[in-house]
Amino acid sequence: MNKIEIFENERATGYNQFVKTWIPGYHYFLELLPKLLSETEYKDLLIAGCGTGNEIERFAHAPEHWKITGIDPSPEMIKQAREKLQTYNSITLMEGVVADLDPGKKYGAATLLLVLHFLSDNGDKLSLLKDIAARLVPGATFVLLDITGDKNQIRQNLKILKLLLPDDLDEEQISNRLNRIENELFPVSEQRLSELCTEAGFEAPLRFFQSSIYMGWLTKKK
Ligand SMILES: C[S@@+](CC[C@H](N)C(=O)[O-])C[C@H]1O[C@@H](n2cnc3c(N)ncnc32)[C@H](O)[C@@H]1O
Repeated sequence: MNKIEIFENERATGYNQFVKTWIPGYHYFLELLPKLLSETEYKDLLIAGCGTGNEIERFAHAPEHWKITGIDPSPEMIKQAREKLQTYNSITLMEGVVADLDPGKKYGAATLLLVLHFLSDNGDKLSLLKDIAARLVPGATFVLLDITGDKNQIRQNLKILKLLLPDDLDEEQISNRLNRIENELFPVSEQRLSELCTEAGFEAPLRFFQSSIYMGWLTKKK
């Protein structure tokens, strides 16, 4: 099983405010998701690392009827997702990792937003991507959002991100977070992301979205 970055307590409860502050365009990106996947024939969707259910909520409001499975290893995040999504039908929420899902059950599309940068490129990223690929029908669309870029690209884009932050953040908070992104997380270059996807059983991904260090990618299961 690959490494898990557990979001607990304040990190889980403050999560939605955190993403809004630190990921310019995050809500815009979420709104795109049902449109991006609207041509999917088999509307059985896997949301890997679903967190508090942000992506799921968008699909639950989409004009098409989706059957949705969200999985996340953090009990606190899944608890919030359950509270938020309890009134919707056709949503299954599971505490666990993708490898825990029945490999005999296949999905028509999948998303993996803001998860991969927590996993090291020592095989952990690849095994998560393979676990997802193994649960998709051939041709299924897979959408990724992740911190992406080589060291220099990340450094340059962190300067841009700093310019886009809300005015009321204190300097210490900003420098701690920027330092963590640069030194403690595991982003990979665009080239490496493409290699990992290909090795896991996907086509070479297409970058269709970028907001400073965050890039959105689309690919298909081969
Ligand atoms: C930054 S949150 C993203 C949540 C959600 N996708 C979103 O965009 O709001 C990262 C999530 O990845 C989950 N996670 C950590 N390791 C994971 C793994 N190996 N497989 C799946 N999810 C994982 C964490 O529990 C956390 O909820």
